Amino acid sequence: IVRYASFRNVEIIPEIDLPGHSQTATSVYPETFCGNDSGSEYAPEEMRNVLCAAREENFDMLRGIIHEIAALFPSECIHIGGDEVSLKYWKNCPRCRALMKSKGMKSASELQDYFIGRLEEIVHDEGKICGAWNEAMQHGTLSPSTVVYGWKDTDACAQAVRKGYPTVMMPASYCYIDMKQHPWDRGHTWAWLVDTRRVYDFDPADTGIGAEGLKKVRGVEAAQWAELLDRPERFVEYQGYPRICALAELGWTKRELRRWEDFRDRLKNGHLDRLGAMGIRFRTDPPQVRYAKGTITVRQTTPGSEIRYSPDMNEPTADSPLYRAPIRTDRPERYRFRAFYRGGMSTVVEPVAASLDVSLAPGEQKTVTLPLDEYVDRDGIWLLSLTQRGDDATIVRLEATGPDTAYCIIRNGQKVNPFNDLRLYADERNRTAALNVTLRNNAARPDEITLNLRPSA
Ligand code: ACM
Ligand code: ZN
Repeated sequence: IVRYASFRNVEIIPEIDLPGHSQTATSVYPETFCGNDSGSEYAPEEMRNVLCAAREENFDMLRGIIHEIAALFPSECIHIGGDEVSLKYWKNCPRCRALMKSKGMKSASELQDYFIGRLEEIVHDEGKICGAWNEAMQHGTLSPSTVVYGWKDTDACAQAVRKGYPTVMMPASYCYIDMKQHPWDRGHTWAWLVDTRRVYDFDPADTGIGAEGLKKVRGVEAAQWAELLDRPERFVEYQGYPRICALAELGWTKRELRRWEDFRDRLKNGHLDRLGAMGIRFRTDPPQVRYAKGTITVRQTTPGSEIRYSPDMNEPTADSPLYRAPIRTDRPERYRFRAFYRGGMSTVVEPVAASLDVSLAPGEQKTVTLPLDEYVDRDGIWLLSLTQRGDDATIVRLEATGPDTAYCIIRNGQKVNPFNDLRLYADERNRTAALNVTLRNNAARPDEITLNLRPSA
């Protein structure tokens, strides 16, 4: 790996995540975990997050591991982790408590600083510097040479800079490419919907650190944690590309030379072809699929892509029927569509009856109306989804009003959540209603929200 990367001017920085995220070690070597007052292990294996901080043999073991790692990887930096440490085991461990007492520590989080400090010493003895996640800098005891990787949010990134640490910015809600890139994709959701545009839109300068602070920023990074990458086949590439391309351009191109539309056009007019020629199974944009008056009509969004479909709710594959002309059907909710392009493919999408884009300035509130009688052609459940470019908007109010009906669906506000469809039940009374949706952008950036209405199976 090191040789392959070095040939391409890429440096591999290894990470051993310590002292938390150590379930595997503490399960296989139970003696590395904390004890409790009766001296036995007491937590289920999958819960044993930390290595015992008071067991000197643990540091001997880590010295050996880090020595081996240091010899394998030529990089100047070894990342020692430091994130998401469960302090409760240390608090309950007689050995850890005795150590805290002997060192006059008042809290278990000081024990975390102690552990990180011991690791820094071991790494420095190897002639290297450390990398660590943002939690490691909490109390200012971290060595000034240690590179802080800000993952939690943009505030954590800015704090690392303000404390003077060399900083890699990778706030999860922009840079975690294990997140979904479309509400109908596979992937995590906890950090937000992270599509290619959102990665491209991130800028370290927007974290409020000023021009001097920017000098502390070493660069940006994407995280692709692998626990949901096991299926479908080669999903790792679908999640990686083109979001990595967007991140790379963000890293090496001045802000004034970066424009989303320009990047997107270069992707679709050459760069996806290049990825395809390299055999990479990238993700491409889904087709636009509309349903109206008994007919599904599809428009490609990547020139030259093939659109394939399934009429039975299955995921279209490369062998599924090719879409050639509008499809007449009274069961649009059963159809699924997917774009294929040069080995890459898109999210699987369903027909949408109504789609409305709403632009909102910072702080702006706006009411838009969807006349249901134009779109809703049958009784039953319809789904209203709201997808968003930003991450801080509210559905202030949502109501259905018409000649035969008037009721409020959301009265007291609710955060826009692209992962939660709102379910609307259509019958002969409210099919003639209008949906009035009042939206507010709470963020300091402009936002664009797309409302989609589709029939549900
Ligand atoms: C992390 O995602 N806990 C670094
Ligand atoms: Zn312990």
